[in-house]
Amino acid sequence: MQGIPLSASIDRMIARALDYKKNPWRDVQAGARKRIGLIFLNPSLRTRLSTQVAAQQLGMEAIVFNIGSEGWSWELEDGAVMNGTSVEHIRDAVPVLSSYFDVLAIRTFPGLSDREADYAETVLQQFIAYASVPVISLESATLHPLQSLADLITIQELELKRPKIVLCWAPHIKPLPQCVANSFAQWVGAWDRADFVIAQPPGMELSETFTTGAQLVYDKAAALRDADVVYVKNWSAYRSYGAMGTDQDGWMLQPEDMEKTNRAKIMHCLPVRRNIELSDALLDSSSSIVTRQAANRVWAAQAVLSNIIQSL
Ligand code: CP
Repeated sequence: MQGIPLSASIDRMIARALDYKKNPWRDVQAGARKRIGLIFLNPSLRTRLSTQVAAQQLGMEAIVFNIGSEGWSWELEDGAVMNGTSVEHIRDAVPVLSSYFDVLAIRTFPGLSDREADYAETVLQQFIAYASVPVISLESATLHPLQSLADLITIQELELKRPKIVLCWAPHIKPLPQCVANSFAQWVGAWDRADFVIAQPPGMELSETFTTGAQLVYDKAAALRDADVVYVKNWSAYRSYGAMGTDQDGWMLQPEDMEKTNRAKIMHCLPVRRNIELSDALLDSSSSIVTRQAANRVWAAQAVLSNIIQSL
C-alpha cells in the first residue's frame, strides 16, 4: 500500500469487504490448508465468531484458544524470576503458537492503571516480536481495527454524501478501554469522507494521537445537530487515566436527543448496557443499525484475512 493515500486503502478494503458480502464463498480456495490461531486473553462474542466465519469462508481452519481462561498465565517481563503466578513466558509461548499456525490473531485488553504500559501495547508488541507469522489484532489495549473497518463498511452502506458523524460518549457502570473510540476516530480521520465530531463531558477527551481532524464538543445537543450517524460508546478517561468520569448525567442517548439530527442512524459496537449507555427505545427503533454493524464484522475480517493469505 506504499504511496497510496490511506483513505484510498480504506476505500479498497471496504470495497473488498462489500464484495465478500455479495459473494461470501468467492475465495473459498484461497485459504485451503492454512490455519489461523485466534488467541483470546479476554472475552468476545462478535470478534471471535465473525473471524471464525470469515476464515471458514476463505477455506481456512480457525482454532480458538481462550488462553485467559484455559491456558497457562503468561509472564511478560524480560528477565523475570518466575516464582509467582505466571507459568509460561510469552517469549516461549508465541514461537510455539507460530509453529502451529500460518496466521495468529490476539485479543488483549488494557489494565487501565498504567497508561504508559497500555499505550506502549506491551502485550501485542511482544506477541508480534516473538511471532514468526503474521499477527492480526482482535482488539488490543488502545485500538480495535477490525471493528473500525466494519464501522466504516456500515457507514458506507448508508450511501450518504459526506455525512456528519458524531462519536457520542455514553455512561457506564465501570471503566472501559478507549480502544473502540480511539480506533474509530483514527479511521474516520484517515478516511476523510465525513465531518467528524466527538461529543464528551470535559475530562473524557481521547488521546490527541487519534483525533486529528475531529471537532471536540462538550454540549451533546449542539454536537448532535444535523448528525447523520451517531456512534454511541463509553470510554474511560485518557488524561486521568482509567477514571470513569463523574459527570455522567444526561449523557445516555434518548429519543428526544435525536430530534435535531438528520434522522440519524445509531451505531454501537456491542455489547451494550441497555438503559445505561443507550435506551431500549433507541436500540429497538428503526434508527438503530447495531445488528447490521455487528454482522459486517464478518466482511471486515474476511477482507483483512484474504489480504494476509495472499502474502503467505
Ligand atoms: N465489538 C466487539 O468487539 O464485540 P466482542 O467483544 O463481542 O468481540
